[in-house]
Amino acid sequence: MEEAPVWIIVCADMARQLELFKMLRIETKFGELGKLISSVVDASLAAENMAIAAEMLGLGSVFVGSVWDAMKRIAEILGFPADVLPVVLLCLGYSDEAPPIRPRWPLEAVLHENGYKMPSKGLMKKYYEDANRRLVEMNYFKKGIRNWAEHWQAKFQTEDMRKWEETLKKDLRELGFCPKH
Ligand SMILES: Cc1cc2nc3c(=O)[nH]c(=O)nc-3n(C[C@H](O)[C@H](O)[C@H](O)COP(=O)(O)O)c2cc1C
Repeated sequence: MEEAPVWIIVCADMARQLELFKMLRIETKFGELGKLISSVVDASLAAENMAIAAEMLGLGSVFVGSVWDAMKRIAEILGFPADVLPVVLLCLGYSDEAPPIRPRWPLEAVLHENGYKMPSKGLMKKYYEDANRRLVEMNYFKKGIRNWAEHWQAKFQTEDMRKWEETLKKDLRELGFCPKH
């Protein structure tokens, strides 16, 4: 991240549209969650297009989700009005490495036809064991972490997750994307 020459913070922007509505005297009342889902989906689609376009031009990219830890602070630093939410950071640059492709769920676990079907325990176990083996080979884990389960357990500590949820709620509320109650 530090070495990437370009950082793009892709934002969900309802401010511009609502300002235009005001100008045109269009009367409407978007609820916070209506604003959230439509603009976050729009922003995510745009972000993915940027990553694909960068790739096509021979650049590398990485999405960074840490913006979700400090959305209000980022909004302040960049002078966002209400109703603008930083959704994801996209760092661009010329890659100095070509990391191997990470493990993927098999198609039958992600593609459901005419209704959701939870993958079987056997499929899950096989996916986990294959993925874990590949990740160990890739040297993916930090020192002291022996497998993917330990990696997740360390990453998603209960107390950290509780605090994060509180921060998210507060920030989303202050930016206009979460109901007060
Ligand atoms: C919403 C989102 C947030 C991400 N946040 C981070 C991050 O904070 N740090 C990081 O190293 N990679 C982050 N990534 C990148 C992923 O770890 C992964 O490298 C990327 O999605 C490419 O997928 P692949 O490696 O499975 O091919 C994020 C990806 C997405 C889609």
